[in-house]
Amino acid sequence: MPISCIVRLVSYLEIKNLHTHFTLRGGSIFSPSKKVVRAVDGVSLNLEKGEILGLVGESGCGKSTLSRTVMQLIPATSGSVILDGEDLSELSKSEVRKRRLDFQMVFQDPYASLNPRMTIFSTLAEAVRQRRPELKGDALFSRVETLMATVGLDAKVMRKYPHEFSGGQRQRIAIARALAPEPKLIVADEPVSALDVSIQSQILNLITSLRNDLGLTMIFISHDLGVVHYIADRIAVMYQGKIVESGPAEKVFHEPEADYTKRLLASIPKLAACS
Ligand SMILES: Nc1ncnc2c1ncn2[C@@H]1O[C@H](COP(=O)(O)OP(=O)(O)O)[C@@H](O)[C@H]1O
Ligand SMILES: [Mg+2]
Repeated sequence: MPISCIVRLVSYLEIKNLHTHFTLRGGSIFSPSKKVVRAVDGVSLNLEKGEILGLVGESGCGKSTLSRTVMQLIPATSGSVILDGEDLSELSKSEVRKRRLDFQMVFQDPYASLNPRMTIFSTLAEAVRQRRPELKGDALFSRVETLMATVGLDAKVMRKYPHEFSGGQRQRIAIARALAPEPKLIVADEPVSALDVSIQSQILNLITSLRNDLGLTMIFISHDLGVVHYIADRIAVMYQGKIVESGPAEKVFHEPEADYTKRLLASIPKLAACS
């Protein structure tokens, strides 16, 4: 048999028929009731190394639950997540803890996700040393300096605290912290939703240049199809726990097939839709 027939092409990240259901218990002790929320309901997606996948859908459709399940922060009800050839769903809890450095998250509210009592240097040094505990002194200082330059921050401000920065600068620090342990995958969950429009585009440009320079692999989550189209190579549209459409960003944005995608597109303010 020719080798080409036995080499199976696999993606860097493979999400296979993933389900995450929550059981809500209510009622009284005499008539207990049970409701199952199918937050993620049979999602299959692939992501290549160095690619940004935009995950879009309205609030409550299951985006955060999907990302937290992929990152093994909450257990899947069924299905699998394979990263770089390794089935994460088969790992023990202690093995998952060891792999945690491979996945980093960036959240909507950088202020809540940064420790207010730690300087930027301490925050980034701690994140660097999670992967490289041997780094100390000048070597550690220079790694932190490089990280800050990577996200467009002047190293002179490394002794300051989170409250001394603007929202956009804090999101840059959160991105630097996510990069610090050299992860395989970054999930950014609505990272620009809380920022002013002009700051949003600066952060989107930063992420685009990081993807180009560092070959970042990212799932970028937003409720805004315009934002996702700006940044993503491919787009997956989520509705009520399911992916209703996925494909190259240009295709999904300009020639959507699913009615739900068309409705999302129609809800974008005109200026964004023209860009
Ligand atoms: N821990 C939980 N327990 C019960 N229901 C949850 C939990 N987390 C999320 N949900 C429900 O799952 C659905 C998807 O939520 P979420 O993933 O946060 O959506 P999104 O990020 O798209 O806004 C919602 O109906 C939400 O109420
Ligand atoms: Mg969410």
